[in-house]
Amino acid sequence: MDTGGTRIGRVAGMRPGTMATMASALLLAMTLMPAAASLAAAPAVDAIERPLVDGATDPLRGRAIALGRDGNCLLCHGLVDAGRPTGNLAPPLDGVAARLGAGQIRQRVVNPALTNPNTIMPAYFVVDGLRQVAEPWRGKPILDAQQIEDLVAWLQTLR
Ligand code: HEC
Repeated sequence: MDTGGTRIGRVAGMRPGTMATMASALLLAMTLMPAAASLAAAPAVDAIERPLVDGATDPLRGRAIALGRDGNCLLCHGLVDAGRPTGNLAPPLDGVAARLGAGQIRQRVVNPALTNPNTIMPAYFVVDGLRQVAEPWRGKPILDAQQIEDLVAWLQTLR
């Protein structure tokens, strides 16, 4: 598409006012285009704003889940004060609360595939659409709702 001024200028029989309006409409369209394109590319769900449980959460319990065998988060993620070697397959958890809001953090833990269908990160609170789940664990999320919220509470402290 040629949106150059010369082309517009050559349109026959058009009053100057109309031309100016057309030109500014085109300019507006061109300014809006990148925004529209990134909207279209945006993932369907970037955040789960509503907590999975009402009531109290415990960031320390969340930390224990992340570092322990229930979450095993440090298999992939770094954490400066872990006090032991950590993984490097994923961004360090340090500073995650400065990068993401609570709802975005919850979405990443519940079902990271919503923002990245190719992620290697397990979905910790999803039972449908998973592949290669061994029989004893079918139909059960890796963590329960309270554990997810404790984790989210802890992750929110990592600024
Ligand atoms: C098998 C590896 C793996 C494990 C285990 C894992 N993650 Fe991840 N995680 C990733 C990868 C890789 C990413 C980068 C984004 C992506 O792939 O979608 C990520 C992204 C994240 C993000 C977003 C980080 C950012 O800065 O954008 C959060 C939060 C997160 N993971 C939390 C957790 C928590 C909490 C656990 C444990 C309950 C966990 N992860 C376990 C691989 C893993």
